Formats: sequence, structure tokens, C-alpha cells
Amino acid sequence: MGSLSFEKDFEPSVVTPRGLIANGDFGEMKRLKVATPTTPRKNLNVAVTEPGSRNDGPSLDCILMNYIDTLSQRINYHIGYPVNICYEHYASLAPLLQFHLNNCGDPFLQNTVDFHSKDFEVAVLNWFADLWEIEKDQYWGYVTNGGTEGNLHGILVGRELLPTGILYASKDSHYSVAKAAMMYRMDFEMVNTSVHGEMDYSDLKAKLLQNKGKPAIINVTIGTTFKGAVDDLDIILQTLKDCGYTYDQFYIHCDAALNGLIIPFIKNMISFKKPIGSVTISGHKFLGCPMPCGIQITRKSYINNLSRKVEYIASVDATISGSRNGLAPIFLWYSLSAKGQIGLQKDVKRCLDNAKYLKDRLQQAGISVMLNELSIIVVLERPRDHEFVRRWQLSCVRDMAHVIVMPGITRDILDSFINDLLQQRKKWYKDGNVTPPCVAQDIGAQNCACSYHKIDFIIP
Ligand SMILES: Cc1ncc(COP(=O)(O)O)c(C=O)c1O
Repeated sequence: MGSLSFEKDFEPSVVTPRGLIANGDFGEMKRLKVATPTTPRKNLNVAVTEPGSRNDGPSLDCILMNYIDTLSQRINYHIGYPVNICYEHYASLAPLLQFHLNNCGDPFLQNTVDFHSKDFEVAVLNWFADLWEIEKDQYWGYVTNGGTEGNLHGILVGRELLPTGILYASKDSHYSVAKAAMMYRMDFEMVNTSVHGEMDYSDLKAKLLQNKGKPAIINVTIGTTFKGAVDDLDIILQTLKDCGYTYDQFYIHCDAALNGLIIPFIKNMISFKKPIGSVTISGHKFLGCPMPCGIQITRKSYINNLSRKVEYIASVDATISGSRNGLAPIFLWYSLSAKGQIGLQKDVKRCLDNAKYLKDRLQQAGISVMLNELSIIVVLERPRDHEFVRRWQLSCVRDMAHVIVMPGITRDILDSFINDLLQQRKKWYKDGNVTPPCVAQDIGAQNCACSYHKIDFIIP
């Protein structure tokens, strides 16, 4: 499989991407001064210039090299968002960039134009159909532009099947779900969550009973964006049953953006053998891909409501966008084939172990921290200093921040994050005038190490 060695039980070392082109003519290029590694990247103030008007300024290649340098230096500080940058397929697949590959329309129908990758797209879809236990002749799907498009599509399928349905989603669900409700002008019920971020099933029940006359379209989050909580699909199905909703009165969309490739290897709860309507994941998250992409799978019988014949492209279309990225399916196909289920399983285990390592080390240092079961997202107290937050490219909500322990994040990176945090905390909290935030309301008293809750704080 090309130059990859994913099949081996590899432990990635600190990721250092290679230059722009291995044998390119960049050797003599004058490099611009680049920022020191820990400094957030500055705006490059790039402009589009007319050819021949750059006499005094750097060449286009020089600007690009400077950009690549900057990104390369920041790569080991990329721990706050769920992207897997630990891949090497870009080298083997780079020659594909000479073609414009466009998969517009239905993946299962050939185009009149040859420049598409639907053969690869269907291979990828078949792989996910197998993973989520639906027969090849029973499903329909496509490679999307990302998890958001998958959610927009899944919820649209639900809405077309149950036009008067109310959309239910938890407070911790991704913002794209509320966006779908707004775009489709759907009635929307926000369901409460526990302190861990999981759907509050008693609140769901109360709301389902209150709206009993109307069908339910439920977004189930398999790995919430901030806390990595997994809504329990089986409890939700049981709740629907208890409330008297029959199969034709509900539709379930599973948003498994990050955890869709984690859960199946630990505790398989995503299965089309259950009465669910669609599942979506982001391809650039756990699997890893240079461009945003995702996979959306639904039942074939549901898709007729959405499909429209389009003469212009000589195809049928039930997707959200028109032109679709034809490179993404090839990258996905390559990664899946190179890693295989065994490689993915190893990634899952390593990430879970590393997440636990980070959580334990922070806990031992007396820092508020939470890690949900089945999750690689470590939630911690919000670092006090904006510079620190920017250095580590953290996402913060209220008094929380999180680290997402993706496959490319090594123990070395985690150690350097922990050491930096411990050092900075000494400065922030040294005189006792300022104390670490209380996060009991956000992650539970037992996970909070503020001066008030310290007594309850459990150190393993
Ligand atoms: C649970 C969940 N759903 C959907 C999305 C959106 O995915 P994308 O960024 O691929 O559009 C995210 C992104 O973080 C997410 O965490």
C-alpha cells in the first residue's frame, strides 16, 4: 500500500511535516523570517498581486514556504480541535491534484464526465455500511463536505418523512443541529443534559409526552462536541416506546462526527439493525484527511422523497451540495485500506490510553478535570491566560477548555502541555488573590478542584 506503514503498530513520533515539494526548486528560495514555534501564527497579510508587480516583494513560492513553515511549527500545539493530522497519504496522492475530480449527483450513478471518483466513494460507503450493519442493497449514502452537511442531510431526510415532526436535540449537541432547525423552519425542542453532557432522558420523556400528537425527529449525539458524552441510543429508543411512539412516528439521526470511528471498536451501539434513520461522521476527524469531509448513510427506502432527476448532470440528486469534492473519497479509501479495522482499533486504544494519562496527570496536579467513558476529550479548567490558550489552540466554553487526544497527539506533546500549564499556573495563582475557577456546575463537584470543592476531589 504505497509508502504507508499504518499496518504496523506504529506510535507516531512528534509530527514534522515535510517541505512543499521534496525535489522542488525551492532550495535557493529566500526564506522569510518565521515566528518562533510557540507563537500563534500571525496574519501573513497576503494580497493578490499582478504578475510582474512583485519586484520588491517575496515570490509566490517564498510566501507559500513561509506559510508552510509557520504551520509546521504550530503542529505540535494543535490539541484543542478534533482533527487527525497524522497521515502520510498526501505524498502518494498528490499527483491527483492535477485533475479536477467532481462527484456531483448520486454516487451510485455514473456521470457523463469521466473526472469523478465515485468508484472510490462507493467503496468507502460500503465499508461504513458494513461497520454500521446495513446491507449494501438497503442503504444509500454519500461522501459529504463534513459532519455539518451530514447533519443537515440526516435531519432533512427525517423532515421529509415526517413533515410535521418536531426536532429534539440535547443542549450539548453540535450547533449544526440548531442550524438545521432554523434552515428547515422546524419546531425545535432543546433537551437538557447531565453535567457530563449526556442527554437527560427524563427531560426527553417529559417533552415527548407533552408533544405526543406530533412525530419526533431525534438527533442522538454519539460523542458531544465539547465533553465527548455519548447519548445512549438504546435508552432513547426505550423512552420512545414508553411514551407510545411507534416506528412510523419517529426518526433518529445519529451524529457520530468524532466517535463514529471510536465506538464501534469498544461498544458497538451504532447499528441499522435498530430503528434508526441515518448516521453521519466527519472523515477528517478520527480517520484524518487533509480536506474537510464526512460520510452520511441512510436507508435506501427513505431517499426517494429527496431524489430529483437533474437533466443537466444526467443524474439523480439527493445530496445537499452541487459540486462535490472528488478527492476526499480517494483519501478516505486510501486511509481505510491502509489502516484497516485493526489499525483503527489500535488508534482507538492508544487515544483512549493517552486521554486517561492526561486526565490522571492533571488530576494528580490538583487541576479540575473530567473524562467521559468512551471519550478522548479531556475537559479541564479554563487556563487563565489568553496567550496560553492561543499557544495551545484551545477551545474554551465558559470556565472550561478541552484537549482532544487525537491519533497524532503523543505523550511527549501531552507532557509538554502539562509542564507548560503547571508552570503558568504557578504564576497565575501564586499570591492567592486569584484562584482557579469553580467548574462544579460544568463538570461536577467530584471533578472540581477549586478551593471550595477540593475536599470532594478524587485523586486516584
Ligand atoms: C458532534 C459533532 N457534530 C457535528 C460536527 C460538525 O462537523 P464538521 O466540522 O465536520 O462539519 C462536529 C464538529 O466538531 C461535532 O463535534
